[in-house]
Amino acid sequence: MPLVDNDVDLYCERHSHQPSDLLNELFVATHQRTEWAIMLVGPLEASVLRMLIQTSGAKRVLELGTFTGYSALAMAEALPADGQLITLDMDAETTAIGKEFWARSPHGHKIESKLGPALETLTELEGQFDLIFIDADKHNYPHYWEACVPMLNPGGLIVVDNVFLGGRSLNPESEVAAAVDGMNRRAHEDTRVECTMLSVRDGMLVGRRVHDA
Ligand SMILES: C[S@@+](CC[C@H](N)C(=O)[O-])C[C@H]1O[C@@H](n2cnc3c(N)ncnc32)[C@H](O)[C@@H]1O
Repeated sequence: MPLVDNDVDLYCERHSHQPSDLLNELFVATHQRTEWAIMLVGPLEASVLRMLIQTSGAKRVLELGTFTGYSALAMAEALPADGQLITLDMDAETTAIGKEFWARSPHGHKIESKLGPALETLTELEGQFDLIFIDADKHNYPHYWEACVPMLNPGGLIVVDNVFLGGRSLNPESEVAAAVDGMNRRAHEDTRVECTMLSVRDGMLVGRRVHDA
């Protein structure tokens, strides 16, 4: 259930930075080659991620939830030439579609994919990140929050997609809705991070790491 009126969404999309031709091609290919194109962040959120990377000067980005590599490519396009993006997913088939398109992009060399359950892969990563984008399975959102906040550089951004869960997190009646709502509450109370929640599409939470608790 989209909470934001579709016409408003399209109006915002039309008046925001437009995706590259390759991103548009990947968007179409995802619709043709998978059954879950609805999972894509789409052009509007991609422009928000791009804006956050460019205004914050982020150089090292971590993404949870690659799917067909659309948001990864959108972020890689916004990173400087020496930028790096690590993206995690457990689906080799959809990740392979992403790899096809990254190989055709002058920004593709910035992207590194790691396959496996994200919670496990997270424990193997080294170093801090300037921006972390959480867009994998929603049941694990509270765990992703706890694992990712310590991985942020001071001033680093944490961005979480689908924080409305189609409206279900506003009045949680299922386990997954309670998980997303629980993470939203935790984020709000977390003194390490200052947050703002944006009503962009299915809701984007943006937090900036301020200090250690
Ligand atoms: C919403 S999609 C990501 C969309 C992508 N960020 C984009 O907009 O282009 C969520 C992805 O999370 C992956 N996923 C689900 N559970 C996972 C887990 N436990 N570990 C790693 N990836 C997982 C799915 O395979 C799926 O590709």
